Amino acid sequence: MPHPVAKLHDIPSGTTKRVEVDGVEVLLCNVDGEIYAVEDVCTHDGGPLDQGRLDGCRIMCPRHGAIFDVATGAALTLPAIVPLPTYDVRVEGDDIFVEV
Ligand code: FES
Repeated sequence: MPHPVAKLHDIPSGTTKRVEVDGVEVLLCNVDGEIYAVEDVCTHDGGPLDQGRLDGCRIMCPRHGAIFDVATGAALTLPAIVPLPTYDVRVEGDDIFVEV
């Protein structure tokens, strides 16, 4: 049984939390109560997405302003072209599990 990577109550709706899972930097995003997980590394030039602002399911990279959809990983605006890796999330009670 894998360990939970975070607690649901630590990530209120509209916020994010950075965790490390098996050596991968993962950004957990609470979009209206739904948890999504993407890699916390901008595909443009490695910007830290956990320092960006989550707006609905969109997050903006603080470095050059690329916007990603955290539900699909899609790169929505330049300068990013490559989508973010996304990871399967399972929530059991207050425990969040992520498969990388
Ligand atoms: S590093 Fe994210 S937009 Fe450039």
